[in-house]
Amino acid sequence: MRQIQNKFKITANEKICPKFYKLSLDAKEMARSVGPGQFVHIKVTESLEPFFRRPFSVFRAKKQVEVLYEAVGKGTVALAKREPGEYLDILGPLGNQFCLPPKGTKQVVMIGGGIGVAPLMVLSDFLAKEKCEKILLYGARSKGHVFDLKDFKKNGCKVFVATDDGSYGVHGRVSELFNKIKTDPQTTAIYTCGPKPMMAAVKKFSEQNKLNCQASCEEVMACALGACLGCSIKTTKGYRTTCYDGPVFDIKEVIF
Ligand SMILES: Cc1cc2nc3c(=O)[nH]c(=O)nc-3n(C[C@H](O)[C@H](O)[C@H](O)COP(=O)(O)OP(=O)(O)OC[C@H]3O[C@@H](n4cnc5c(N)ncnc54)[C@H](O)[C@@H]3O)c2cc1C
Ligand code: FES
Repeated sequence: MRQIQNKFKITANEKICPKFYKLSLDAKEMARSVGPGQFVHIKVTESLEPFFRRPFSVFRAKKQVEVLYEAVGKGTVALAKREPGEYLDILGPLGNQFCLPPKGTKQVVMIGGGIGVAPLMVLSDFLAKEKCEKILLYGARSKGHVFDLKDFKKNGCKVFVATDDGSYGVHGRVSELFNKIKTDPQTTAIYTCGPKPMMAAVKKFSEQNKLNCQASCEEVMACALGACLGCSIKTTKGYRTTCYDGPVFDIKEVIF
């Protein structure tokens, strides 16, 4: 896997639903080496403020590298102001990858919470040609956090949505959607990314049903290269860095 640090031209940076933006970068070479679940570390401004880069999962990696993001603070608000034609300093692709399902897998269930759905899009691109049943269970705070999920459908996924306030889909947490699927420990693979309480619920569900589950974990990052240990999480194998050892872990190992 080849990592690149370079300045890439912004081709688009637009609001795609009330809460989310999509950034597209002219980064063909990087797109070729991105695996599902990897992330990029972006210097969001030209100045020293904010000082640290910000990590974002790769949302899609076809001819361009795309990132789906929510403007929540200083860095992401600054990113939302960047214009097509400008350049962004990017380091990536970083981190490990989701392992694609083993032979014999009949059903893949992707469970995303909020912006955590981002790495599941690129995963669904990698799975598009697989014959297995593909399902996306997506939990969001409200309708404003639900973007057009048609590209998941184009990749052959059945899509089910729950919102905390009931403004779209089923009323409640993503766990309300677990009853939409009939799983089998031998032939079902689960992939998840989202807020910690959601992933804790997914861990419980996968343990109760004896399912293999890979989870992409997000922590605040500084170096993103495994050097500062700032992004460590507690696992059954001790503290592991989410940037270098992860972000993808076997959910059984993660202590939420
Ligand atoms: C591997 C990885 C992949 C990520 N992928 C995406 C993505 O695809 N799209 C996206 O929008 N965001 C993603 N994030 C989260 C993103 O990095 C943070 O939202 C961003 O760093 C916030 O920067 P800020 O300056 O806007 O916010 P800050 O001003 O730094 O913080 C604003 C708020 O966001 C919280 N926050 C900051 N960093 C994180 C974080 N890493 N995880 C959770 N909460 C955080 C803070 O606690 C605070 O409440 C990812 C994080 C990691 C580690
Ligand atoms: S951010 Fe420095 S070790 Fe992960």
